[in-house]
Amino acid sequence: MRWRKTTDSAKFWPSYLILEATSRCNLRCKMCAINEDPRLQKGGEWYGDMDMRVFKNIEPYLSNIFRVDINGHGEALLNRAFLQILEDVKKRVPFVGLTSNALLINEEVGETMVRCRMNELIISIHSAESGLYNEISRPGKLETLLENIETINRYKRKYNSDLPVLKFQFVGMRKNVSQLEGLLKLAAGMNVSELTVLPLAEYSAVRGESLGHYPELVRQYFPPAIRLAERLGIRLNIPHVYMNILAETDGSSVTRGHSTGILFEKRSPRNVMVRDCLDPWIFCFVMQSGRIRPCCVIEENMGSLFNQTFEDIWFGEKYKTLRARILSNDPPKECTTCINRPMTSLANLRLKLMALGLVRRSFGMRGFILLRTIAKFLGYGG
Ligand SMILES: C[S@@+](CC[C@H](N)C(=O)[O-])C[C@H]1O[C@@H](n2cnc3c(N)ncnc32)[C@H](O)[C@@H]1O
Ligand code: SF4
Repeated sequence: MRWRKTTDSAKFWPSYLILEATSRCNLRCKMCAINEDPRLQKGGEWYGDMDMRVFKNIEPYLSNIFRVDINGHGEALLNRAFLQILEDVKKRVPFVGLTSNALLINEEVGETMVRCRMNELIISIHSAESGLYNEISRPGKLETLLENIETINRYKRKYNSDLPVLKFQFVGMRKNVSQLEGLLKLAAGMNVSELTVLPLAEYSAVRGESLGHYPELVRQYFPPAIRLAERLGIRLNIPHVYMNILAETDGSSVTRGHSTGILFEKRSPRNVMVRDCLDPWIFCFVMQSGRIRPCCVIEENMGSLFNQTFEDIWFGEKYKTLRARILSNDPPKECTTCINRPMTSLANLRLKLMALGLVRRSFGMRGFILLRTIAKFLGYGG
């Protein structure tokens, strides 16, 4: 990765990008922002497929990047240029993933994913029962989804390939938390190695559905699912917020689960609490319009690939200001409430960034080793 001598707080290119191939979708999942955000409706400023000029503007930077996920607000497979984008990205980036409802996978798509060695296919599935699946992911059919997974598996056998690795993604809600065990069984039968539970961002159609409001349901459904996942050899990723609910009651089941929240929970009354986050140093979200967002929560426009280079945006003033704010006692409001990250103190976040060499400090090798040791002691990297 290229090293850049600057005085700003990011020394590297991001290692991870999300590329939004489109914001259009073939479904209208009940909990999805696509139903109610006017910017995502036809004619809205965030509506439509990625302009190939945007893709051409980011393309030269891709060889600096380790991982690209083709994801975003819509269903990437709806973009007619999807296969071209996939193959182009895969030529330049070691790890390429796609998050998809998987309902549009046909023979050509399935074969290309396997042939170009796409690394990961994350399949969104919110129920193991046809009726509930259709009620949540309207007007999708579970049977089609399962047939399409079989198409991928058939090509993986044909090409004798272990890629793409198949994973399930499930938005946990009051209405579908009972599906966890059924989904794990389905995964076991379909060569799916992992199930990630996402915490619900509550839009109006699912107001009050978040499992955070129902700790008793978390306690009822997660421990048996953790045990089943272990028996089936499937990795079950559980959001930090739910792990905390379990931790209050049953330490033994918690230690066997994996948390999707990185790092640890450490509260210090002397510090401003912030959701621990490295995103503005290592990651960015390229929207279909060419607009750069610092993460999936903060909507601030960091710049546009239509009239700026990626380099100017990533190392530019807006990013510098954002990074400085995250490390200050006045982080953006979105960071203090972001549910994707564990709660930690600003001092801990700063320490982690220094340990990774992402924040400048004149430490020398001994100081660096000391920081790494402290960071390890505090639980970083776990
Ligand atoms: C917006 S979708 C876009 C990709 C693709 N259409 C799909 O559904 O996989 C990306 C992920 O966000 C999840 N998602 C949708 N609505 C959500 C919500 N309200 N809260 C949390 N995750 C949500 C989806 O289930 C999916 O796994
Ligand atoms: S398939 Fe994905 S983008 Fe489409 S409505 Fe469902 S969650 Fe939203």
